[in-house]
Amino acid sequence: MKRIDIQGTTRRSSIYIGESLKNLARYIPSRDVVLITDDRVSHYYKHDFPQFRTITIGTGERIKTMETAADIYQELLAMNAQRSTFLVGIGGGIVCDITGFVASTFLRGVPFGFVSSTLLSQVDASVGGKNGVNFQGFKNMVGVFNQPEFVICDPDLLQTLPERELLCGFAEVVKHAVIEDPELFAFMENNTSEALALNRQVIERFVHDSVVIKSTIVNRDEKEKGERRKLNFGHTFGHAIEKTTGIPHGEAVSIGMVFAAALSVRKAMLSEEEFHRIIRLLNNFKLPTSLDHDKQQVMDALKKDKKREGDHIHFVLLHRIGKSAVEKIAISELGRIIDIT
Ligand SMILES: NC(=O)c1ccc[n+]([C@@H]2O[C@H](COP(=O)([O-])OP(=O)(O)OC[C@H]3O[C@@H](n4cnc5c(N)ncnc54)[C@H](O)[C@@H]3O)[C@@H](O)[C@H]2O)c1
Ligand SMILES: [Zn+2]
Repeated sequence: MKRIDIQGTTRRSSIYIGESLKNLARYIPSRDVVLITDDRVSHYYKHDFPQFRTITIGTGERIKTMETAADIYQELLAMNAQRSTFLVGIGGGIVCDITGFVASTFLRGVPFGFVSSTLLSQVDASVGGKNGVNFQGFKNMVGVFNQPEFVICDPDLLQTLPERELLCGFAEVVKHAVIEDPELFAFMENNTSEALALNRQVIERFVHDSVVIKSTIVNRDEKEKGERRKLNFGHTFGHAIEKTTGIPHGEAVSIGMVFAAALSVRKAMLSEEEFHRIIRLLNNFKLPTSLDHDKQQVMDALKKDKKREGDHIHFVLLHRIGKSAVEKIAISELGRIIDIT
């Protein structure tokens, strides 16, 4: 097991990689704990939960709302929860985002921790202190920055994860490698089949290195003013593709990373050879690398990006694998790259 400590503005957060859900009791008080999970995670793992009161929510992005948060406040009140009550979210990014939001707001804040049960939440959602819910269809519109006391990343939980969910997690690991870490990228190239077979050591390295990369970037820029934008690599196109096609986030980001890499080649920053290495790696992780959809619709969605500033948008480009930079790019230029890639 490896432990990574992250010093956020609100508190220190410890991430335990390779720890087991079965040991959760070691990390929480012996009493006055409430677990929050979803139907599916409960179905698979309830028998491994410590014996505490449990609030179970539904699944899917549609339930990541203020209404679900309000239902949880209601249940906490009925349980007579106090300022000292410790909340633990056991689940993927949705459970963790909602738990963090509820814990940060209920009684002006109660202590909380996570057990991350999806690859995406282990490599991405559980680091960085962002918690929140969707509002009127807008993703993560209402939320807070606040760090959990701990995050347990248990690789065994990934065994029951549907393959498509797993692949979405790999897309974010590729992102971390591409923007910051050429060694991780090479390791991914050399261990693709092991990763797909959920080899424990390989997965733990993916999670560990992702947590280090994300937390290092976040620590330098916790409130997302400058460098944190690098973590949006592939996401400008990705979000627009996700919105228009409805494909899962990680698949959309995979295609978005290809467009961003193509623009980097066009700007004579990235070599053709490295561009093809990125495409090959994504393909080997069974991720899509081309857009099979109306390009104009994607551009229309991209023009509505809340992060755009006039005709420009902060966009992450690559100098090479492991070295990225944020530049202001004209929206019209993004339209051209989507047409020719
Ligand atoms: N806070 C952040 O910084 C951050 C970063 C990235 C993503 N997110 C958020 O995370 C959410 C997506 O997270 P996600 O991909 O983990 O989705 P998710 O939480 O919806 O989980 C995906 C599905 O897998 C099921 N599941 C979870 N663990 C399982 C397991 N071990 N075995 C079998 N099934 C399991 C869930 O019940 C769900 O149906 C989005 O809402 C996104 O906005 C937040
Ligand atoms: Zn993402």
